[in-house]
Amino acid sequence: MKFTVPRGTKDILPNEVALWQYIEKIARETFDLFCFEEIRTPLFEATGLFERGIGGDTDIVEKEMYTFEDKGGRLLTLRPEGTAPVVRSCIQHNLTKQTSPLKLFYCGPMFRYERPQAGRYRQFHQMGVEHLGNPHPMADAEIISLGYRLFSKLGLENLKVKLNSVGCPVCRTVIEERLKQFIGSNLEHLCENCKRRFNTKPLRILDCKNKGCTTYFTGLPNIFESQCRECKDHFSQVVDQLTEIKIPFQIDHKLVRGLDYYSRTTFEILSDQLGAQNAVCGGGRYDGLMKQMEGPDTPAVGFAFGMERAVLLLQELNIASQLKQGEDLVLISIGTETKAFAFKILDQLREATIKTNLNFTKDDLKSQLKAADKSNAKYVLIIGEDEINSNIFQLKNLKTREQISLTGEELIPFIKENLKNIKSQLQ
Ligand code: HAM
Repeated sequence: MKFTVPRGTKDILPNEVALWQYIEKIARETFDLFCFEEIRTPLFEATGLFERGIGGDTDIVEKEMYTFEDKGGRLLTLRPEGTAPVVRSCIQHNLTKQTSPLKLFYCGPMFRYERPQAGRYRQFHQMGVEHLGNPHPMADAEIISLGYRLFSKLGLENLKVKLNSVGCPVCRTVIEERLKQFIGSNLEHLCENCKRRFNTKPLRILDCKNKGCTTYFTGLPNIFESQCRECKDHFSQVVDQLTEIKIPFQIDHKLVRGLDYYSRTTFEILSDQLGAQNAVCGGGRYDGLMKQMEGPDTPAVGFAFGMERAVLLLQELNIASQLKQGEDLVLISIGTETKAFAFKILDQLREATIKTNLNFTKDDLKSQLKAADKSNAKYVLIIGEDEINSNIFQLKNLKTREQISLTGEELIPFIKENLKNIKSQLQ
């Protein structure tokens, strides 16, 4: 029986890895610029953490969690997202007491049992940020601008920022009541999920992607108008700050997001190049989550973006070929007797941090030269018996096709110096 990857997962093959590393590098640099520090949490947590944190009425908890019992009888779940684990860790290690506000970022695989399609996987990767302990609307604007600036740095254009406020526990009941009044008369036309949520979490109905349901959402009352003074003030300050720093956004009152912990600001960054899975990044404020998990009452705001979706967008830009780094040098040894000598030189070149390759099985000049040309290497160094006996070697620059004779002692200093110049020209 031949094995293939489990449904909904994918191998990230060597020709794609450069793009992943590029995104990670730019994201890490941007997070650092905004003064966020990395945190790493386990891939699995107690199931109750997600049930309580994400909320029982969400798709994730209802149908998408990979839950199992370990040999000790503990109920565990592969993390479907990163926010609840970060909050758990902050409570467990008293992090917000030691540093407040606390700015953290994370990166790694998440797991959701979803129906796989382009841009939607069962194992996918997120990079996310969480700013804990800061109630100020500027913290929301900073988080949104961080997402926007990061994607701009990656070269992604035509992205849309959608923004909303879902209110706080004080005004949520008013919002939900108005929503129920509006939807009530059409309830019989909505899907079973919406019908159920009508009684448990009416706001969640707006998250339904079912076309048969969304047609009944046109003319929806503006949920902003039902919000309390504090929520309205908070939102208008977020809007003002974003306008001030010229982050383009659109207000969308249907943007409630698929997790229960949000209060006030919610946002998504979308691209129309992603098809149905058009959200590359999503987040918002979750002021009640830490208290709900029995930690100190701590306001917080954050986002996460999907690496697979960012990779899909960057593939459109065709930058992968520019990112691929060839060898600094390919060693070519002619004849079987020279291999041992070439192997010694190979080791010395690598000691000198020169990225070098040598084909151990080929002895002829032609095929090795052909492979070197294909490899995008900067130099080739030819080692034959004559070169070993005379201690004079031919170094060829594959771009300029120039060749230079060097003694064994001159080789490494010459290559290092010239590579420095080549690399600074490339930057
Ligand atoms: P989320 O919207 O569920 O939010 O996920 C964030 C991003 O992860 C999405 O915008 C999408 O790019 C990516 N993503 C989600 N599910 C999949 C999937 N099945 N396949 C591929 N990519 C996917 C959260 O997870 C929140 N924890 C974000 C947050 C952080 N809110 C506050 N802080």
